[in-house]
Amino acid sequence: MNYLSDIKEILYSPRDIDERIQGLAKQIQTDYNGEDVVIISILKGSFIFTSDLIRYINLRLAIDFIHVSSYREGMTSKELIINKGLSSNINNKHVLLIDDIIDTGNTLKQVKEILTKENPLSIKTCVLYNKPSGRKVEMVADYVAYDVGNYFIVGYGLDYNEKYRNLPFVGILREEAITKI
Ligand code: IMP
Ligand code: MG
Repeated sequence: MNYLSDIKEILYSPRDIDERIQGLAKQIQTDYNGEDVVIISILKGSFIFTSDLIRYINLRLAIDFIHVSSYREGMTSKELIINKGLSSNINNKHVLLIDDIIDTGNTLKQVKEILTKENPLSIKTCVLYNKPSGRKVEMVADYVAYDVGNYFIVGYGLDYNEKYRNLPFVGILREEAITKI
């Protein structure tokens, strides 16, 4: 089966994403006004977004990664497991935390809380996608590339069961693809 035929609809082309990311990078660059910043990318979903975004930001950046998984406990609460923590010290630094998508808000909110305990000078959040309809906890990202509706998207780093991260565009998965994996 052709991998691409699992996609029902392409929402954002590589060119759309590239243009939007350039705009976002400009905004970030202006807001930080020459300050040093530590970029913290939440793995795995944000690795492509992060690597494209940072190349458009003309600031003295340091990059670190954190890898987390969340496990549902009952129907609503989620406990966050840190698979890989930071390898640098963020004390007294400006931190920009990057994730692929904010859905329920649990991941970004909890990672932000964990990092806040390390006393950064400031901490802001940036996501490629915001799915407002999925929110279960109060969490607003400071920088959002796109708001998306209530559907499951893949590509450009976003996965379904670890697949489709390597698609250069973002699209909606066919229902048949969801059931066959
Ligand atoms: P949250 O903790 O519910 O906000 O979910 C954030 C995580 O859920 C993201 O980092 C993604 O891994 C995953 N996720 C949520 N919605 C989607 C989607 O539409 N496509 C792919 N992954 C998603
Ligand atoms: Mg995921």
